[in-house]
Amino acid sequence: MNKPLSPDLLQSAEAFADYRRNQSVRVDDAAEAKAHAGGARVGISRPHESAALHVAGAAPYIDDLPELAGTLHAALGLSPVAAGRLLGVDVAALRALPDVVDVLVAADVPGSNDCGSIVHDDPILCAGEIRFMGQPLFAVIARNRQAARRAAARARDMVRVEAGTPVLTQREAHAQGRYVVPPMHLVRSAGTNTHGAAAQPAVQAAIAAAPHRLKGSLEVGGQEQFYLEGQISYAIPREGGGMHVHCSTQHPSEMQHLVAHALGVRSHAVQVECRRMGGGFGGKESQSGLFACVAAIAARRLGRPVKLRLDRDDDFMITGRRHCFSYDWEVGYDDAGRVLGAKIDMISRAGHSADLSGPVMTRALCHFDNAYWLPEVAMHGYSGKTNTQSNTAFRGFGGPQGAIAIESILDSIARERGLDALDVRQANFYGTAQNNVTPYLQTVQDNIAAPLVEQLAASSDYRARRAAAAAFNAGSPVLKRGIALTPVKFGISFNVKHFNQAGALVHVYTDGSILVNHGGTEMGQGLNTKVAQVVAHELGVAFDRVRVTATDTTKVANTSATAASTGADLNGKAAQDAARQIRERLAACAAARHGGTASEVRFANDKVQVGGRELGFDVVVGEAYLDQVQLWSDGFYATPGLSWDRDTMTGRPFYYFAYGAAVSEVIIDTLTGEWKLLRADVLHDVGRSLNPAVDIGQVEGAFIQGMGWLTTEELVWHPQSGKLMTHAPSTYKIPTANDCPPVFNVRLYEGDNVEDSIHRSKAVGEPPLLLPFSVFFAIRDAVSAAGGHRVDPPLAAPATSESILRALGAVQASGGRAGA
Ligand code: MTE
Ligand code: MOS
Repeated sequence: MNKPLSPDLLQSAEAFADYRRNQSVRVDDAAEAKAHAGGARVGISRPHESAALHVAGAAPYIDDLPELAGTLHAALGLSPVAAGRLLGVDVAALRALPDVVDVLVAADVPGSNDCGSIVHDDPILCAGEIRFMGQPLFAVIARNRQAARRAAARARDMVRVEAGTPVLTQREAHAQGRYVVPPMHLVRSAGTNTHGAAAQPAVQAAIAAAPHRLKGSLEVGGQEQFYLEGQISYAIPREGGGMHVHCSTQHPSEMQHLVAHALGVRSHAVQVECRRMGGGFGGKESQSGLFACVAAIAARRLGRPVKLRLDRDDDFMITGRRHCFSYDWEVGYDDAGRVLGAKIDMISRAGHSADLSGPVMTRALCHFDNAYWLPEVAMHGYSGKTNTQSNTAFRGFGGPQGAIAIESILDSIARERGLDALDVRQANFYGTAQNNVTPYLQTVQDNIAAPLVEQLAASSDYRARRAAAAAFNAGSPVLKRGIALTPVKFGISFNVKHFNQAGALVHVYTDGSILVNHGGTEMGQGLNTKVAQVVAHELGVAFDRVRVTATDTTKVANTSATAASTGADLNGKAAQDAARQIRERLAACAAARHGGTASEVRFANDKVQVGGRELGFDVVVGEAYLDQVQLWSDGFYATPGLSWDRDTMTGRPFYYFAYGAAVSEVIIDTLTGEWKLLRADVLHDVGRSLNPAVDIGQVEGAFIQGMGWLTTEELVWHPQSGKLMTHAPSTYKIPTANDCPPVFNVRLYEGDNVEDSIHRSKAVGEPPLLLPFSVFFAIRDAVSAAGGHRVDPPLAAPATSESILRALGAVQASGGRAGA
């Protein structure tokens, strides 16, 4: 890339196309240029609506907002033990420290001391029971941030605690029957057409009767969201008991509720606003709540603005992340590796409170099938209650944890039978006309796994490269290559039906400029860009006429979290609904003035065709204003046709599925456990893309982020004290640009969403996080090669160098020899 990236450059679509070519983003430029000339504003690659501001450092995040006079700063005093009781906080000594203005403890919460989003088991400040090391025990409010942090850091000397014995791992919690939500069971026998407990014996019988059986277990680690902008809230007291909170959150409405409950006021007294986040990745879906509440409680008490911005280490110590999972499984299968019966226990580390652990486990159970027909299946999900941070949403929301288990099982079956793992995967795919009902009884109606995988296997030259890797390995005793192709099928919608709704407001001003507001939040994923494109398209105007504003609970009410990848699906449709109403009013008005019928009026390229004339969009708007036409509208959308029964775990939880597949090839050093991703080929389904450049960015980002989860990002809690030892980038390794493979071919699959989604597109935020399963199984393949493929490598995720060496040790100890 040699051209400077100036705002002017980014302004023009042509220049952007040029920029993209230099970046080798693979988009069909000719098709796009044609669509653009024809007036389309969707299906067009556009830079992120804030791209120029991002690169110029001119996109304000919450800590960049000008501070009001009198602003105070908060910091949290954290528990020095993982379990036990808080006997007291030396408030007087803390207050006497330099620049300290106030100290808050649980008793100072005016409303309810709880920030649990679904289950109310999550104290804002410790009320006696200490649940994990890092739990907030008190808050210090000081004149500046340094003073607040310095005082809070004295927690160890300023609190009296009685230490207890922590339960740290999910297996320990499971052994003791400690759960944050009741165990979940999803059992289906297609053979006997039974579901639930009644189906259990049939599943057991199917496994017992199968020609081959296999048993195993798997450990998969958690993952820190590592949003670049940490958790932050800035609370400003308003008149008459009101509170305005600038909060970096994916869920402004939830923050509004939590702050209202904590203050003991009603929702209409609380305004929560978020223009953008510097990343959320699920970590700001529920867990921004504690910080919003503390800032608001302090602001109310002191009558002054209060900001709480976490230090990165504290962010690690206080907030939860992706759940780590343990699995115990048993399968029965036939000669082709087809699964005839499967049983699995999934045990997650939920942490000290429920948070979103229940829904995460639900999604894990609903994704154990991934792309595969499992006729007889029994799944049991246990959300272990541990003395650790409360785990929460992270891109994929349990889906990755569910799907990786079946991928691991199929990988083992293939090795056991001496088959190519791709053949085993293909043998297990859902059918299109039969064998297409999921364990939760939704029929898979849009299955494109087989053609998609076929295309990718061909374009990536999978078969030939497998043979080449085997040939390389035969002559290479130390370095071993591995290759794997894994598919993804990911369900789109919230499992809770009523969350699948959204609202929007579109204002057209008399100069023809347009302002959009909707319930979704921008976290870098390009949601605002897509929504603005939808509105520009609907009104037939240039993109730069449309401006998107901060998400604000006083504008669109009762919004859902921007999560489950549904942001564009829901808010795009709601904004389209609002824009369509305005267009219809404009058309009626223009037809009345200039002749013809409203349905003949055309809006495209900033022009309006009416009564044989062509008028500027702004002219038509100006005329409509004079004719007293309402030039703003609300819009609403609810996803149709969804159902979910929590008790039986059946229904149609997903509007549609997003598909994808990836081939990864790695090389490992069997002496050191080091590895490198040599090449990755991705084919991913986003339906008819709203913005191919943004979607490819999402696919690439999710791939690398998922690869980090499965390879380098390792969380270590001290086995006695329960302290999270990996609480900074010095000890917790996220991927960087250097970890991108030298050959990274990312393509979007051609094909529309069969459902009536926004312009037939599909959600893209989370599904591609599952693509780098292929990296993990390529590493496993390389380890397996070191044992002549005779032993199934006991590789745990993340596949760090240590984990790879351990697996190599096991493979080589049980008879396999390097060089085979
Ligand atoms: N992309 C960026 N750049 N930053 C993020 O925080 N979050 C992911 C994904 N992509 C995220 C992201 C997660 S967890 C979700 S659920 C979706 O974006 C949410 O946005 P969407 O529904 O608009 O796709
Ligand atoms: Mo995404 S984990 O649904 O915020």
